[in-house]
Amino acid sequence: MRLSEHRSRLIIMKLLIVNGPNLNLLGTREPDIYGTETLADLEQQWLACAADLGIDVVTAQSNSEGAIIDVIHDARDDVDGIVINAGALTHYSLALADALTAVGLPFVEVHISNVHAREPWRHHSVLSEGADAVIFGRGTRGYIDAIAHLYAVVTSPPVVVSYGPTQSNVMDVRTPDGDGPHPGVMIVHGGYWEDIWLRDLMDPMALDLTSRGFSTFNVEYTTGDGSYPAAITDILGAFDHIVEHAGEFNLDPTRLVVVGHSAGGFLAVHVAHRRSRFAGVVGLGSIVDLDTVAVDCPEDNPVDHFIGGSRVEEPDMWEGATIVGTPEVPVRLIHGSDDEFVTPIHAEHYVQMTRGAGMLTMLGGVGHMELIDPRHDVWVEVLDAITQTVAH
Ligand code: DQA
Repeated sequence: MRLSEHRSRLIIMKLLIVNGPNLNLLGTREPDIYGTETLADLEQQWLACAADLGIDVVTAQSNSEGAIIDVIHDARDDVDGIVINAGALTHYSLALADALTAVGLPFVEVHISNVHAREPWRHHSVLSEGADAVIFGRGTRGYIDAIAHLYAVVTSPPVVVSYGPTQSNVMDVRTPDGDGPHPGVMIVHGGYWEDIWLRDLMDPMALDLTSRGFSTFNVEYTTGDGSYPAAITDILGAFDHIVEHAGEFNLDPTRLVVVGHSAGGFLAVHVAHRRSRFAGVVGLGSIVDLDTVAVDCPEDNPVDHFIGGSRVEEPDMWEGATIVGTPEVPVRLIHGSDDEFVTPIHAEHYVQMTRGAGMLTMLGGVGHMELIDPRHDVWVEVLDAITQTVAH
């Protein structure tokens, strides 16, 4: 068992990162699935990320179930959370599931590969039920996302509110200090409606906006192939839930802004076209023109996956999903001129279609992901758009 401890200078919290059977072979083990980086390479990345956030890290790897359980027990009073890639134990170790429940620490389950797109026996996890997040299919980046998510969960614990019947119908609610009713931001993550991308992408945004006095509602929704129209129904349902429960959330619904990024921008703009009496929508690098996605992604069109067929195969579904007409509330789009994932043509087409009702700020030299990073220079533009929308 390798167990090593690493200290950062300004410590806010401490995490255990534990890897199970066969992950010591990373780098040489099925590199087409798990990549070529070794566990030691990954450890360097975790430490850099953790140090940046002020997190101390203990790492451990073992091929033995009992040793992993012992490490988890020993961490009980020592760490604030656990990142675990349990390897194949994920799929059957009830003893490990019990250990995680017993210590009661927040934990994120990580898988490098897309377990849901592999053999059926990998689709089931006995650990997931108690997890704060399950991150899979993002490659080794998944560990970094897990660290960032635990940072968000530990430093600013959300209340997880269910707004509908499915497991995806949940949102992280954070309420700012001070008397309400507060202005609010409903946050809709992107990721081309693929099931590997979840609302943890928007944690930094949620934390930043909450610290600035906004109630934040970081929403999950149905994703994956054929998730249209459920994704739109979910987002409208989440919006209605927030407005209907505004009193309980200490929220002023007239000062509620819906902010969406990328595919989440598409969903947010749909809210602007289907609901009224709220402050408005801010779309960041938004997909607002379904036909342009074919230009953005010529090899494999994500809209075909979302809708469950091409425009030729499913013309009615495509028409139903297309954003048409003019919005009921102000829509401010912010787009990076260098956005390679969602080209600026989207935003330009939307402004034309809405005859100027949609407002556009085009940011020179900016790409796609900077727009959701509160540490980036362009964050002031995002804050400005939210503030203007609230003040409307
Ligand atoms: C894994 C997926 C598991 O199914 C497998 O047994 C592993 C690694 C992953 O990281 O993708 O060992 O957890």
